[in-house]
Amino acid sequence: MTPTTDPAGHRERLLRLDRALAATSHWWQPLPFREQCPRWVRETPELVAALRALTPAQVERLEADPSALAGLLGRWIPTLRELQHDGWPVADGVGQAAPRIGDNRDARDVPGRKWQQLQAFGAAVLAGGIDADAPLVEWCAGKGHLGRWLTGHAASPVVSIERDRRLCAEGAALATRGRAGAQRFVPVDVLDPTQAPALSALLDDAHVVALHACGDTHRRLLALAGTRARRIDLAPCCHHKSLELPRTSVEPRARLELTRDDLRLAVTGTMTAAPRERRAERRRREFTLGLIALREAVSPATVARPFRSLPAAWARGPFDEFVRLAAPRIGLDLPARFDVAGFEAEGRARLHEVERLSLVRHGFRRAIESWLVLDLAVALEDAGFECRIEAFCAPSLTPRNLVIRATRIAPSTAGRRQDMRDTRAGSPVAAAGDAVSPAAWDRAAIAASRTSDGPR
Ligand SMILES: C[S@@+](CC[C@H](N)C(=O)[O-])C[C@H]1O[C@@H](n2cnc3c(N)ncnc32)[C@H](O)[C@@H]1O
Repeated sequence: MTPTTDPAGHRERLLRLDRALAATSHWWQPLPFREQCPRWVRETPELVAALRALTPAQVERLEADPSALAGLLGRWIPTLRELQHDGWPVADGVGQAAPRIGDNRDARDVPGRKWQQLQAFGAAVLAGGIDADAPLVEWCAGKGHLGRWLTGHAASPVVSIERDRRLCAEGAALATRGRAGAQRFVPVDVLDPTQAPALSALLDDAHVVALHACGDTHRRLLALAGTRARRIDLAPCCHHKSLELPRTSVEPRARLELTRDDLRLAVTGTMTAAPRERRAERRRREFTLGLIALREAVSPATVARPFRSLPAAWARGPFDEFVRLAAPRIGLDLPARFDVAGFEAEGRARLHEVERLSLVRHGFRRAIESWLVLDLAVALEDAGFECRIEAFCAPSLTPRNLVIRATRIAPSTAGRRQDMRDTRAGSPVAAAGDAVSPAAWDRAAIAASRTSDGPR
């Protein structure tokens, strides 16, 4: 069902972005890491020369500054400049929540950037208001730092849902710092279909907060809460952690089909990684490219065969040790002797090239992320919510800084709630629940949510 109105303009914006991304896919879909010569490399030698001339410091600055990158690339890709003007507003309340008792101790125990992120996210949640009679549910809570922070700033108790029992136990111990009994942990795998009835009951008329819920887990949230939650504040993350690929839009007129690599592009970016981690990652990539060069030389028939990314820990030692560890993983029969220094240097040279050519693809990172976030917002609007999309903090704090703030304006019907609760009743969700993949299960639930009977 396509609604007749689009008051926030999200559907229109999704379709505009979809057209722009589809028309420019030859720029952002090829991976220079795998494809040595994407089409645009052959067709725009001037751009290639400009990229090759960049110093390492310039590459780093452009990676950290999307507008500077769009400025550089815009001469050849005008669409990027247009997309750059299409930013998101900053959430109300950011940086305005007053500190509460316990904050100082938390600030010492929660890693610095995480603490700032959750404060910023929490402030955006508070600015939207918290209904005293709506239970607060924290989705994929980790140790429940956000939930704990919220118990200090709002009267409602918080239920924190998390798969990892160790994190639940540690979170429960930390919760004793806050109001007695204000935060409860529920150790559950939200993707487990047999847990759907219990989760649905928890989400009923609730205010759900989800900070950095990954791939299928945020889609599961929409599927379950779409018909029953009162409010949802969702900052989605790790879109590529999904069983449903390629990813298509809920909007039937949209054309993009995103592969796992495309989805990963939306969440790459090392802006917040520590310099030591960045150096380790560079070395891993350098060595991997050296290994690929070696494979091309000794086993040309296997050149196109992809392999899973190799652990950074293997690259801590020298290059030849890395190659010996990695050869069995990539199915390479190592010759007794090879030019270690030569292939290591080749890896370094290739990385130099790849880092520069990848800037083009990276220029589209935010646009793809926006497409994914818009798509989630449109799904929620179809399910009866009014949505706002905002940036809850600066990208230097976390590049995954977009929050969808959804407030129900049209009801889920009592009848449909019953359908979704009763997993043996033969509803679309119930019928699919036990037997099919979580992705199909989600689709069924979203489809069910779209059969809404209209405003209450
Ligand atoms: C990126 S962390 C975010 C944690 C927390 N919300 C925060 O921002 O600090 C994602 C969390 O989701 C949890 N998670 C992943 N898959 C899950 C699942 N299927 N069911 C429940 N929790 C899950 C992970 O264990 C992890 O703690």
